[in-house]
This record gives sequence, C-alpha cells and structure tokens, in this order.
Amino acid sequence: MAKYTRLTGTQDILPEEQRYWEHFRQTVAQVALDYGFDRIDLPIFEMTELFARGVGENTDIVEKEMYSFQDKGDRDITLRPEFTAGVVRAYIENGLHVQPKPVKLYSIGPAFRYERPQAGRYRQLHQYNAEIIGESGPMADLEIMLMAWDIYARLDFQGLAFQLNATGCPACRPTYIETLAAHYRARQDALCDDCLRRLEQNPLRLLDCKREACQGHIAAAPKITAHLCAECDAHFAELRGFLDDLGRPYTLNHTLVRGLDYYTKTVFEVWAEGIGAQSAVCGGGRYDGLIELIGGPATPAVGFAAGIERAVLVMKEQDVEVPALPTPPVYIAYLGDACRQYAVRLLVHLREAGLGAQIAMGGSLRSQLRHANKRDARFALIIGEDEMAADVVMVRDLHAGDQETVAQDALIATLRSRLDA
Ligand code: HAM
Repeated sequence: MAKYTRLTGTQDILPEEQRYWEHFRQTVAQVALDYGFDRIDLPIFEMTELFARGVGENTDIVEKEMYSFQDKGDRDITLRPEFTAGVVRAYIENGLHVQPKPVKLYSIGPAFRYERPQAGRYRQLHQYNAEIIGESGPMADLEIMLMAWDIYARLDFQGLAFQLNATGCPACRPTYIETLAAHYRARQDALCDDCLRRLEQNPLRLLDCKREACQGHIAAAPKITAHLCAECDAHFAELRGFLDDLGRPYTLNHTLVRGLDYYTKTVFEVWAEGIGAQSAVCGGGRYDGLIELIGGPATPAVGFAAGIERAVLVMKEQDVEVPALPTPPVYIAYLGDACRQYAVRLLVHLREAGLGAQIAMGGSLRSQLRHANKRDARFALIIGEDEMAADVVMVRDLHAGDQETVAQDALIATLRSRLDA
C-alpha cells in the first residue's frame, strides 16, 4: 500500500496513456498551424483578482472552485481555473494590441477547479485554449467554431453536435435578465435553494439548473433570442447564416448560459457521444467586454477551450484509432560481460549517427530479446564473441522476423535502408 496517494480529482497520466494525450496534442498543434494561431504560454498562477473580476464574482468558479492562497509575500494568488483571463492579461501587459488584428493565440496546459470529481470532471484538468482578439464581426465567431469542430473531426469523433446560443450584450441583456427574473419570482415558492440564490445573484444561471423539479421552470422561461437588441440579433443571424451555408448542423439551445460571466453575444459548446448526455468536450464564446474590464482598450474577442481529459475519454469510448508512440528502432543485446564494452561503443556510434538506440543493462540474451520486443524495437543487434572478433553484428529484424550478419562499417547504411523500405 502506498503511503502517499494522489489527491482527489487528480490523475497520473501513465506511460500507456500517453499516446492518447500525444495524439490530441499533435492534432491541436496542427489545427493551430493550419488556422494561423500563435502559441502563448502563461504562468499557471495569477493574481486572484484577475479571475475574480474576469470570470465573475458570482460564478461557481470564483465562489467555490478556485485554488486560492496567499504566498509567502502575502500576495493573493490563484491557480488558473481557465486560460482566457490570463491571455487577456498578457495581451494588455505585453502590448499585443499593437500587432495587426485580429491577434490569434492558443495555449495548452493544466487548469484547476475544486469541483466534485466524476467521470470527465477533475480538479486538475487540461485545456487547449484558443482566442481571436480584436475582431467584432461574426466571421471570427465562425472561425472559432470551425476550429473547435475541426479538432474533433480530425480525431474522427462520432456524434458531434454544436450547441449554440446568444447571450446578448450590455444593451439588451439587463432587460432580458429582468424578464427572466420576473418569470422566476412568480414561481419563487417552487424553486430549489440553488435557484433562489441564483435569482438574487446571477439570474442567467437559473437556466443551468440540473434539478428535475426545476426543468419545467426552464422550459417555460423567456428565451433570450427573443430579447436581443438589433445588433446582437443581426450578429447571431449572420453567424447562423454562415453555419447554414456550410451545412454545419447546430442546435439552438436557450439554456446554454456557460459558467463564466464574461460572455457577450455568441456562446457555444461541442458535444460528442461517449461521455454521457450533455457533456461538452469544448465550450466558448464571445467576450467583447473582458479586455476593457481588465484595464485594456475596448477590444472585442472570441475563443474556446477544449478539455483534454474529456477528449481522451471519448477516444477510448469511441475506439478511435490512436497511433502508437514512436520508439527507438534499435535495441542492442549482447552475450555476457565480455561483449559489454564493445556493445556500449556501438550504442554511442549509432546515436552519433542519429539512430535512436537503447541497450540491455544485463541479463541473459533471452531476457534481453524479450525486452527488445516489449520495447517495440524494430531491430535487435546481437553481439557475441564471434561477432566481436569478426567485427560484424547480427541484425535481427523483429518486425520482418529475419536476421542477417552485417559488417560493422555497413551497419548504419543497412539499418537506414531497412527503415526507409
Ligand atoms: P469551460 O466551458 O469552463 O470554458 O471549459 C472548457 C472545457 O474544459 C469544457 O468543455 C471541458 O471539456 C473542460 N473542462 C472544464 N472543467 C473541467 C473539469 N473540471 N474537468 C475536466 N474537464 C473540464 C472555459 O474554460 C473558457 N475559458 C473557454 C473560453 C475560451 N471562452 C472563451 N475563450
């Protein structure tokens, strides 16, 4: 029994899991390249106030889920619960607004939320995050949605669906929220405790209540799309026009309100089969007020984040074909201590020539060869005293199942030509 165990809601990503993660990382890196996004890496912790202001004081994330602490210099610090606030902070602080717009940035890494752990929900999670900053038109929303979709299409996920909603802007949302709150106030006696609290603090979140008893109130609630101002309405219509034109299916979902307060206009999620109903593999939207809120010039922006753990779950659930990780092609095996030094010299020689190689650390030839197979080496090079004396190497091709004796000075060329064949 281990004395120390990992903390609830965290995972060890063991070597046999890595190919799923690498497949995801390679896919998103290629998508970013194809869509013209630049990479940005940010600190994992930031000032607590950045998230409190950016994500919103009355969100679950800020109220209940942040890993916040004081450092030894009495600064209030939080492990990032998401990337967007940090990207915006970096955009302002590093003067990225002087670059030609839109600025397109992506990041990848861990984030932290003290959530109730369950399938697909962790306390240390990993996201791939992409933002388009400096463009107000719906083409940027479209581009972000296409990019999000493309990740899962390239991963060959089945049963993909866009969930789409509009959340209005400071001109139209307050009136809608009033209307929504009035609808709920009229049913106050029938609301759950959480909804009563949301009614006071963050009425939009009323639409996100998961309790069975509250579903009737949600179904009967006024829809924001009927209360949008002319600008938000036109923006939403144009975005849907693009999606319709491309034949991309989406579901208008008036209960999609998302858990972060910075959204304006478009919000969306991508749902995929395999992680339970209504589980998003990714989510995002437009946040035209955030940069100004955090102290920068008024700048529109839109983005999304894709959870890696959920993508890995779907890969497994849907039996997605995931390539094996590359292994060094050569494994050097030798007979006894007498050949060891010769084998080490050969190892270094191969590596200097740019061939990946590993060597047995000891044991019988049989166990060495078993290890070579286990490590998925393409070639076992076998050295015995006879080979040493004749300056040759026995090359066993573990994939083809044949073997040949090769002169030392022809070894690299032989291995290369077999690898290239
Ligand atoms: P979010 O919806 O909170 O959005 O998170 C995005 C994705 O991260 C989710 O769809 C899910 O796949 C994954 N995720 C979130 N929480 C967890 C968790 N506890 N465990 C595992 N996976 C999780 C954001 O974070 C926004 N910053 C997205 C964005 C970028 N909006 C604009 N730009």
